[in-house]
Parts: sequence; C-alpha cells; structure tokens
Amino acid sequence: MNNDIKTDINNKIKRLAREKHAIILAHNYQPPEIQDIADLCGDSLELSIRAAQTDADIIVFCGVRFMAETASILSPDKTVLLPRPDAGCPMADMITPEELKEWIGEHPGMPVVTYVNSTAAVKALTTVCCTSANVIKVVNSLAEDEILMAPDRNLANYAATKTSKRIHIWNGFCPFHDALPPETVLKQKQRYPEALFMAHPECRREVLDLADIVTSTSGMLRVAREAEHTSFIVGTEVGLLYPLQKAMPDKNFYPASAAMECRDMKKITLEDVAESLEHLTGKVKVPEDIRIPALQSVERMIAIK
Ligand code: 13P
Ligand code: SF4
Repeated sequence: MNNDIKTDINNKIKRLAREKHAIILAHNYQPPEIQDIADLCGDSLELSIRAAQTDADIIVFCGVRFMAETASILSPDKTVLLPRPDAGCPMADMITPEELKEWIGEHPGMPVVTYVNSTAAVKALTTVCCTSANVIKVVNSLAEDEILMAPDRNLANYAATKTSKRIHIWNGFCPFHDALPPETVLKQKQRYPEALFMAHPECRREVLDLADIVTSTSGMLRVAREAEHTSFIVGTEVGLLYPLQKAMPDKNFYPASAAMECRDMKKITLEDVAESLEHLTGKVKVPEDIRIPALQSVERMIAIK
C-alpha cells in the first residue's frame, strides 16, 4: 500500500474512532500497521483488563475471536467488533464444550483451569481462566491439589513443573509454538551465543528447557527492556519482533524460527478496521446464558493479583 493511501486510511480510522467513541485494542502479534493505529497493544491479560475497564462505547478488537469474545463477556453493553470475523485460534477449537463436559464428568469435583485461548462456551464450564502471564498464580490460587487444565498441553506441562499440584492435561496445542523444534533453537543459540533466549509457554517442554526466560508476549517486552543483554532470541510468534524492535531500536532481536507465523493473527488489514468501524461489521456478542457463567471464570482470573 502506498504511503498516501495508508495515511488516508489511518486518518479515516482515527476520525471514525473519535466520532463513535471507540477504542482500538491490538494483540502484540498483529501486523505493524495495525499495532501503529491501536490505542493499546498488549498480551491477552492486559487486553482483557483494558476491555473490562474502558468507558468507550465500541471496542474494536484486533486479534482473534476468543479475545473479542472475552471483551464481550466483560462488557456486555458495549459493541465489540472483530474486523475479520474469520480470525480464529486453532488451539481454542481443540476442545468443545461437549468434550469438556465429558472430561469433567470423568473427574468429579476437580476444578478446571482454562487458558483464555478457548471459546466462550468452554469458559462457561470453567472454574477459573488463566493466560500465559498469570498461569502459575492462578493454579496456586486453587485450594484443590488435583486440577484439570485445557486446552494447551504445553502450558499445562509448564505449570506442572512450577507447582506441586497434580495436573490432568488436555491434548491441545498451538500449531505454531508446538512446531518449534529444539534443534532450530540450538542452531540460533550457536549463531548468537550472546543472546538471551525467551520462550513462550506454548512451546514444547524440550524448547522451554533451553530457555533463559519463559514468559508471555508482554513479559518478553518487559524482560528485554530491563535486561542488560543487547541480543535476544524470540521464541514466540514472529509478530512480536515488531514491538520489540520498535521499543528498543538499539537492541537485536532474532526469531527462534521464521516459520512461527500465525495466519489468523495476520488477517486484519487497515481497510478491515475502517470498514468495521464505519458499518459496525464483525460484531461479537456472547449470548447471556453463556456469558454469565463465563464471566465468573474470567473475573476470578482478573481478581488474582
Ligand atoms: P499472550 O497472552 O502471551 O500474548 O499470548 C497469546 C497467544 O495467543 C499466544 O499464542
Ligand atoms: Fe492461537 Fe497459536 Fe495463533 Fe496464539 S499463535 S492465536 S495460540 S494459533
């Protein structure tokens, strides 16, 4: 897109957002031009908290469906827009409410910790949600010694190494994080021996074992800001390289693997945001019979400090 057209669309988005009292939230993996027009970029936890607090009338969620659903769960009176309704999360679809109900039935009395990367209907059957930023705190907040965790097997495995609880693990995964081979990380470490290796907990245990730091996407931004290191290998979706490099132009960031690109996170374009704001397309509204029980599990998570 040429620069004049981009400036015109940016101006149109800003004008529409002002006129309609809208806030634009973007996940850290979104394309650079989307992050640049957002009022707030962040990880899943930061975006949920912001969605709960905003007094805007419209929330434009530049991310994937489960994130927009979480905003709708927290803010039922607001209009929540997902500019590309087909932007989903393959991991979230790896457990259905029927499957979760059956699993709960096989383990009576056990609380369910569900990763926010899940559908609203799954959240409605959940005791408490978690994100990659708060998973350990959430697991430790439960009184029970045995828990169920879904849908991400890698996040649950990671949590199991950090708590004394017995965790029953659902077999879901992120196709992009799970596919990162430890051999690829080792090659990058050989190439950049001075670099700190940061990994997202959605990566496999063999990869996390090689990591200097395991944390969420915004956790990586904080670590890179505070570390004395000047080079980093980034073990998450490649979209995070943009905010890292933008915030720290003097530091060096290398992808653990250039293949870690989430197609759904790259669907939304500036034109989609303008169209969605202008015509209120891509509305996401969680029905009340699902929203009320789902709200409990999300609010419980947000309350854990
Ligand atoms: P964060 O909550 O760490 O930003 O991760 C969200 C996600 O979808 C990771 O794949
Ligand atoms: Fe889902 Fe993985 Fe994409 Fe995150 S990166 S939205 S977990 S598919």
